Amino acid sequence: MAAQGEANRLWFGDNLEILQGSIADETVDLVYLDPPFNSSRSHNVIFEKHPDDFEAVAAQVKAFNDTWHWSPTTDYLYQKYALAEELPGPTAAALRALHGLLPEGDTMAYLVHIAPRLVELRRVLKPTGSLYLHCDPTMSHYLKLLLDAVFGSGNFRNEIIWKRSSAHNSAKRYGPVHDVILFYTRGRHYTWNRVTQPLSQESADQWYNNVESDTGLRFKRADLTAPGTRTGPSGEPWRGINPTGKGRHWAIPGFVADITAGLSTSEALDALDSAGRIFWPRQADGIPQVKRYLEEAAGIPAQDIITDIRPLHNVADERIGYPTQKPVALLERLIAVSSGRGDLVLDPFCGCGTTIEAAQRLGRNWIGIDITYVAIDIIVKRLRRNYGNSVSYQLNGSPQDIAGAYALAEKDKFEFQTWAVTQLDATPTEQRSRDKGVDGVASFYLDRKTTGRVIISVKGGTNVEPSDVRDLGGTVQAQQAQMGIFLMRGEPTAGIRDAASHAGTYTWPFNGQVYPKIQVITVAQLVNGIRPVLPPQVQPYGRRLNVRALNAAAVLSGRVLAHSRPADVEPLLALLDAQRSGLVLTGTSGMRLAESRRRASGVECPIICDPAAYLTWVATPQDPFRGSNGPLRERALDNFIKETCRAGAHAVLTPTGYIGESDIDTLEAVLRAAPGLNAEAVISLPLDITWATSEWVDVLVDLAEPVLAPKAIMMTGLPRDPVSAKEILANLRLIASRVPQVAFFRSGLGALDLMAHGALAGSIGTSSVMRRLIPPDIRRPPGDNPNEEDAAAPQVLVSDLVSYYPGDVLAAQLAGDAVPCWCRYCAGQSLGRFTGRVQWRDARLHGLAIWTEWLPSLISNASPAERQVTWTRLCQRGLEAHDRFGAGGDDVIRLMPDLPLMFWAREAPLSPAGAVELLRNRRRAARG
Ligand SMILES: C[S@@+](CC[C@H](N)C(=O)[O-])C[C@H]1O[C@@H](n2cnc3c(N)ncnc32)[C@H](O)[C@@H]1O
Repeated sequence: MAAQGEANRLWFGDNLEILQGSIADETVDLVYLDPPFNSSRSHNVIFEKHPDDFEAVAAQVKAFNDTWHWSPTTDYLYQKYALAEELPGPTAAALRALHGLLPEGDTMAYLVHIAPRLVELRRVLKPTGSLYLHCDPTMSHYLKLLLDAVFGSGNFRNEIIWKRSSAHNSAKRYGPVHDVILFYTRGRHYTWNRVTQPLSQESADQWYNNVESDTGLRFKRADLTAPGTRTGPSGEPWRGINPTGKGRHWAIPGFVADITAGLSTSEALDALDSAGRIFWPRQADGIPQVKRYLEEAAGIPAQDIITDIRPLHNVADERIGYPTQKPVALLERLIAVSSGRGDLVLDPFCGCGTTIEAAQRLGRNWIGIDITYVAIDIIVKRLRRNYGNSVSYQLNGSPQDIAGAYALAEKDKFEFQTWAVTQLDATPTEQRSRDKGVDGVASFYLDRKTTGRVIISVKGGTNVEPSDVRDLGGTVQAQQAQMGIFLMRGEPTAGIRDAASHAGTYTWPFNGQVYPKIQVITVAQLVNGIRPVLPPQVQPYGRRLNVRALNAAAVLSGRVLAHSRPADVEPLLALLDAQRSGLVLTGTSGMRLAESRRRASGVECPIICDPAAYLTWVATPQDPFRGSNGPLRERALDNFIKETCRAGAHAVLTPTGYIGESDIDTLEAVLRAAPGLNAEAVISLPLDITWATSEWVDVLVDLAEPVLAPKAIMMTGLPRDPVSAKEILANLRLIASRVPQVAFFRSGLGALDLMAHGALAGSIGTSSVMRRLIPPDIRRPPGDNPNEEDAAAPQVLVSDLVSYYPGDVLAAQLAGDAVPCWCRYCAGQSLGRFTGRVQWRDARLHGLAIWTEWLPSLISNASPAERQVTWTRLCQRGLEAHDRFGAGGDDVIRLMPDLPLMFWAREAPLSPAGAVELLRNRRRAARG
């Protein structure tokens, strides 16, 4: 038996080919199949109107066809399977018999199609395995004949009736309300677990018809005696009641064993009486009985008519919109009965993955196969939504590289488009829309209530013209969508790029971030994990972004903020780039003042509150958050965030304590709080630096990746040596590119590097203390005073060098030369002036003025790839400038570039595909 998850496979393709080519004999414990029914219908996936999406209309796309026709191909297959006996004798004979009975029409075509699959399914079943075939009464009798032929009629176990709807109006016939599930086993000895189903309301009302007056509990009366007399203690009288006189003896039922175990008969009866469990009859000579409460009812063993599992109603939580989706509870029952933990469950027509979901919940391994990419995509996203990274499986048959993508494009244009569109977390459209150049639509939030649309046009062929891009622009306009994505096979020509850039830009009203109106992306980029840059998307199939968290995400998105103490607000406001920046203020006390200053100066930038609990508090799994009066749990945390917003914050970092080295439990506890947080909350993750080492970074990524709410990572502590520092810089890039909605706060210029690698936002500390966090449980080295006011000289950002240097060292380097600084704050004053304590404030404002000047070129580039180019160039220039900087006399100390700058300037940026590869390799290595 494989460990859970080890054998999980999801296959895109035809199940017959996959069964024949890839699934070994006698390896599967349970097969459930729900093949299309031959109802002559074509099924559409209804991508239901998103609950938060008040404008979008329900979209749908054809998932699969239920229609079968007798064609030359079917005729050929019939000859092959039935006449040439390519299928085993009894199955071939059954097909021939059915052919004698049925015309060469849809039903016969369906049976010809299904027969070889049933033979394969029997082959892969273990000798102890079971098969459940889900169908309806229009086909069940033919299928039963076929199954009898394949499995042997002696292996038929049940025809299970599932009442799938309560009532159905049919003219002139009885309402068809049930499905049929045919249950066969491969042999006489098969897995069978006794599973009970709850009592129906009817039985409960009928049987448990007594009510205890003092407690209101419902009970039924069970016997305390059994027929026949005994001479031992069970035949003796108790409280004047003599069972022997009535031809009976005391027999205490097992369901009260927790009260009576180890006691003699009379002691047991006494104990039951004191527990109030005896029902005393009114007649003086009546025999007492024992009360059995409804809550104790064990249920009844699973029956072959299932009425207690209701169909999925329209607003059921698990409803995805996939046609013919079955309830997970139904599959859970079948899987619980016919398999054990770690067993392998196979669904060769897996649709939206109900069987997979049930198997996963019950700790089974699973294989799912579907021929429609829409189904596969739904399952991938369903698993991601419900299990995050805790479920592992192999995805087979879908394009993994460029060659695979091109091969799919050649084989099936429609499926290729569906695949491409789903990779962009968009919804594929139906055929009619595709003919008009709209292959998919992605939605994003315009505000908390309305959504905008991005139209996706996929060109799988090689003949692409700039006019196609212009057409997309026209469609975007005509359909009143906000943006368009043009996905093409080869590299875009200059003409195509030109056409895209002529379409102009779109400004997201939420925070003024600017996006290209039309973005061109290639299939190669798609398979390498590169995605267009869009505002937070509404996820299809109900996988919802935490809309409540949108406010904070939208406030942060694309901004580099200044992380400061509230005291500095006023001068900082004057220098900030309101569009691309804002303030993070530590502590809660100054918030109201800060907000009123912001209003008074008419600056539109956001103010984010960082309660900075991590400075004094080490988080624990029980108490990860802390306010001024102690730990904050649910309601109190909620109130804290609301209160802080009322005091003027536009977003609030959770008051998380410091998360120590390898403290997984605490990190999990912090992340678990995410779904319950207010819209304005950002999960603060003040992590020990070891979380960014290669030993721990994968764990961090795994835990944080499924959490969609915005997160702010703050690294505390310092890397121990230059080698580890380099490793940490690389791992931070990995986190930025893999974890969604992650910001890096209280960092230095590293925030810019990480935003070029996909981080949502960053904050740069205005002073060295704000840029460098020390864990609360670590004593500072002598001389390392948190109050920069007491330090000898402040750290000064030198624009040309893209680095901070101590002001006194800088002054010595300049050797008295008056090198003017032309930043907005210094306005020509000398760079050599920051030599003592009194200049600390000057140095902060100077630093802020410098990096905010970089933002328009760095941050306005919408895509991380473009940001990377600008950032790398800036760092390279900074590195080169070290050679030229200052007077350079023999007696001056040379300014050496620090390690991060060398890393940012020289190390190739990490592409999204590179990040995926890196993680994959690490996981492989970790598994050994
Ligand atoms: C009735 S649906 C199954 C629904 C599923 N039980 C659920 O709960 O979602 C049948 C599925 O079989 C798939 N299918 C049809 N022919 C197939 C084939 N030859 N190989 C694999 N899957 C196939 C269809 O795409 C469809 O998703």
